[in-house]
Amino acid sequence: MTKRGRFITLEGGEGVGKSTNVGFVAELLEAQGLEVVRTREPGGTVRGEAIRGLLLDPAPQEPLHVDAELLLMFAARAQHLAEKILPALARGAWVVCDRFTDATFAYQGGGRGIANERIAVLENFVQQGLSPDLTLLLDMPENAAKQRLESRLRDRSEQRDRFEQEQADFFQAVRNAYLARAQEAPERFAVIDAQHSLDTVQAQIRHTLLERVAEWR
Ligand SMILES: Nc1ncnc2c1ncn2[C@@H]1O[C@H](COP(=O)(O)OP(=O)(O)OP(=O)(O)O)[C@@H](O)[C@H]1O
Ligand SMILES: [Mg+2]
Repeated sequence: MTKRGRFITLEGGEGVGKSTNVGFVAELLEAQGLEVVRTREPGGTVRGEAIRGLLLDPAPQEPLHVDAELLLMFAARAQHLAEKILPALARGAWVVCDRFTDATFAYQGGGRGIANERIAVLENFVQQGLSPDLTLLLDMPENAAKQRLESRLRDRSEQRDRFEQEQADFFQAVRNAYLARAQEAPERFAVIDAQHSLDTVQAQIRHTLLERVAEWR
């Protein structure tokens, strides 16, 4: 029987460097001879990316209800698990995902104020016990992350999405919720200090990852 692959997620607030490092993680694993599937949430499938569009569209004239936001996150996740993540893990591939359910606890829980217990009901319903094997939490102060995000928006002439339009207290709550999650599951989380240069951040990621790979193989 094929050995099940491992499920690795990158988490953290806006602009901390998740998307920058997801490729780095994938390449490190591929260099170890592993098959890697690289993906993101919300999204990761054609239907999931369509749901992402609904979630990120600012459309201020038509506010999205917080419960609708939460359910859309899990709808996209159900599709993502069925279509992509579970089949990959079953054939022995490793999955590297830019955000997963910890982001729901951080944004819809910490940021929007939905009780963790309500989110956990959906987590159990959709994931049926599956959770990441390792979560790299890129952590940095909210104001420093904001500067990075703003320079990226400028460089790429991007518009702010619905979450990026939130205020500092929202991002502070998101950060606190992520750190609380990491404290509750210290064996699953590696908290990476994301404030350093990219080289330093990637050295931390490499160290954590290679240690885990050696443990798991
Ligand atoms: N360690 C670093 N030092 C300096 N700049 C960085 C570092 N890591 C990433 N950046 C830059 O910061 C910006 C934000 O990074 P990135 O898009 O990877 O963040 P993200 O966590 O994916 O953000 P989002 O939550 O918006 O998706 C990019 O312009 C990226 O090049
Ligand atoms: Mg990103």
